[in-house]
Amino acid sequence: MNDKASAAKETFTLKDNRTGKTFELPVIKGTTGPDVIDVRKLYADTGCFTYDPGFTSTGSCESKITFIDGDKGVLRYRGYAIEELAEHSDFMETCYLLLHGELPTEKQKKDFDWTIAHHSMLHEQLVFFFRGFRRDAHPMAVMCGVVGALSAFYHDSTDISDVKHRMTSAHRLIAKMPTIAAMAYKYSIGQPYIYPDNNMGYAENFLHMTFGTPCEEYKVNPVLAKAMDRILILHADHEQNASTSTVRLAGSSGANPFACVSAGIACLWGPAHGGANEAVLNMLKTIGSVDRIPEYIKRAKDKNDTFRLMGFGHRVYKNFDPRAKIMRRTCHEVLDELGVKREPLLELAMELERIALEDDYFVQKKLYPNVDFYSGIIFRAMGIPVDMFTALFAIARTVGWIAQWKEMIEDPTQKIGRPRQLYNGAVERKYAPVHKRK
Ligand code: SDX
Repeated sequence: MNDKASAAKETFTLKDNRTGKTFELPVIKGTTGPDVIDVRKLYADTGCFTYDPGFTSTGSCESKITFIDGDKGVLRYRGYAIEELAEHSDFMETCYLLLHGELPTEKQKKDFDWTIAHHSMLHEQLVFFFRGFRRDAHPMAVMCGVVGALSAFYHDSTDISDVKHRMTSAHRLIAKMPTIAAMAYKYSIGQPYIYPDNNMGYAENFLHMTFGTPCEEYKVNPVLAKAMDRILILHADHEQNASTSTVRLAGSSGANPFACVSAGIACLWGPAHGGANEAVLNMLKTIGSVDRIPEYIKRAKDKNDTFRLMGFGHRVYKNFDPRAKIMRRTCHEVLDELGVKREPLLELAMELERIALEDDYFVQKKLYPNVDFYSGIIFRAMGIPVDMFTALFAIARTVGWIAQWKEMIEDPTQKIGRPRQLYNGAVERKYAPVHKRK
């Protein structure tokens, strides 16, 4: 991507009141969203670093992939609103859009579907890799390990300077994640692995590999497959979130894409990020009943209590998470399809949402249900075990990670990410031999 700083017409004037010197910092405008102040020369000019732990006001890169407006609850993939994609697209088409920047033609879509399907099997030797895990290993631990190990099997697609290798790695990662996740589940329950079926859709295939057995035909409920496909679309990408930033930082050193995605899986696992969908369900089970909600709302507001309402709040969305609205609708669709008349956890979640959204603390701090609030209830209704919830998030987010990784690698201005710090540790000290220490 071209460096726009030199072309910038507008600037910020920075005055150092310690010296009286002023500095002109270029303002760079995007096609939409906040402008950025280019501080790349700040240290060289002023001898100062910026300071922004948590990167609340920092743009780490330039990107054309996903746009979020946190105040308006806007999420667009390559300019297309998430509501439209969730309604009219499917996950494979969304993957193509995120990777290539345009919606595919009919032929491109057919070819892409075929390519992904024909990469969905794992190298058979990886089966032995699974055997190294305890049966009760968390699926995210297995996903981290197996995805990282793919670089030991697919040497023919790790030359990141070769566009064909980059694309093949992207296809392999998107295609194999559901297979790896389903195998992690089958391994944990001691059932045989079910191979992918190239005649099935992506989401349908995952459900088939997860719940099918060699003993009888397993028919995937098309309504559940469609709901799962929509959930994958909602989770596919989300700008420079923690796990995507992890993938970009790992990739900036030239590490191979399998290792980078494995790092992204590790970061996503945290309960403050993708691990929240599992944490929400565990929280709802802990709260247990509607009458105990006030006690937990009180705890969530108590600064001295580490308890937080999982599935609430977001660094960017400060009015509502557009994905949460679609997830809530999908939740009712799935429960209706499954004939679940009463789902106490859903009733508890909806009452919790109602109470929280009327509470001043949550209103003032702009804490609303995020994408993770309802997903766990849907997955549970589908029969997916709680510890597989974040693995599903990782399946969906792999396309976002690899699209952002590819964009970074193909950016001619790209360089290794290496932040600095505010140091406030011991200044210079002389070494004392142990017999002279007090
Ligand atoms: C995802 O970044 C992304 O895009 C992520 C994601 C994606 O698609 O990649 O959208 C996916 O990770 C969604 C978020 C899932 N996490 C959770 O549901 C965990 C619970 N939420 C919180 O941990 C928190 O809201 C975060 C991590 C999501 C956001 O944290 P921020 O932006 O750093 O906000 P913060 O922690 O500074 O909170 C601001 C205030 C604080 O109070 P003060 O210190 O200002 O007094 O709000 C409070 C927090 O204490 N607060 C909460 C709360 N979340 C924030 N209080 C109670 N319950 C909560 N859930």
